Amino acid sequence: MRDLKGRVAVITGAGSGMGRSMALSLAREGVDVVVADIESEWAENVRTEIEALGREAIAVRTDVSDAASVGGLADQAFGRFGKVDILINNAGVTLVPFRAVWDTSLADFQWTINVNLFGVIHGITAFVPRMRAQAGDKHIVNTSSLAGIVNVPGNAAYVASKMAITGLSDTIREELEADDFGVTVLLPGFVHSNILSSERLRPEVDRAGNRSVPSYSDYAVKMARGDTDNSDIAGAVTLKDAGTIAQGIDPDTVGPMVVHAIRENEPYCITHPSPVDAIRKRADALTRAYFPVTEPA
Ligand SMILES: NC(=O)c1ccc[n+]([C@@H]2O[C@H](COP(=O)([O-])OP(=O)(O)OC[C@H]3O[C@@H](n4cnc5c(N)ncnc54)[C@H](O)[C@@H]3O)[C@@H](O)[C@H]2O)c1
Repeated sequence: MRDLKGRVAVITGAGSGMGRSMALSLAREGVDVVVADIESEWAENVRTEIEALGREAIAVRTDVSDAASVGGLADQAFGRFGKVDILINNAGVTLVPFRAVWDTSLADFQWTINVNLFGVIHGITAFVPRMRAQAGDKHIVNTSSLAGIVNVPGNAAYVASKMAITGLSDTIREELEADDFGVTVLLPGFVHSNILSSERLRPEVDRAGNRSVPSYSDYAVKMARGDTDNSDIAGAVTLKDAGTIAQGIDPDTVGPMVVHAIRENEPYCITHPSPVDAIRKRADALTRAYFPVTEPA
């Protein structure tokens, strides 16, 4: 999508972090923006920032885990602008602290997958049929994660949601190409955003603070020492993972990368140097994984 001026973008999770950065970068390129977020006030603030850049914007409170809410977002976007050229399914959450799979409850899996994966699915089902009926080129960006291509021990629910987003995006890229859609998977590494406060959006009873969930890093430290006695690890509600994310890159650097990826129709946009060794290790194991069993004569 070479020419961005006069386009309309819908961005979920646009009230903060990378979503806000993408909204502002696109506005600077002449794009009008529908700012969707579950945090109405954050969305309103970004709407004001976009208007200050001379573009039109509306803020729409949206819960991406709710299909009806995303349907309402589509109605408002098409109602106001008459078209949607760019759809960015970006809203997402993470469990904090990162936790071992044996400490990950069914509710943890459901919440993570409902927001992260179904958020993207709801965006696709609500917008793609209407965008297909629209003349001209279109673009979809789905925010996955480096956890959507390589493993992150301690965040299995998140990895499950993000690897699914990567596969979904790769698949629809092929399906939608003939309809003049480009599809980019955004694959961020650690970014210093508000994501660590994600649990604020969960029912209180499920939050780690009320359930004494140990941090995975406590186990990882012991594993590295070969210490298998975990009896002293219990309910330490620490934000050790916060350190890693706090050292992440500034979210404002991500918007311009995504604008580039949309313009060049890049299938992937990685915000950090590509984790080549981890990708290669997995690819190598996969290329060696066919073990046909021959029946004994
Ligand atoms: N920060 C990182 O290190 C990192 C790394 C890889 C991928 N990501 C992904 O990037 C995306 C953006 O995250 P961020 O880091 O900018 O975090 P952020 O918390 O700053 O922004 C996420 C936004 O999504 C909104 N949101 C959360 N749940 C929602 C829901 N149910 N409906 C609508 N909006 C909702 C939040 O209110 C927030 O404004 C997420 O999909 C996240 O998983 C983040």
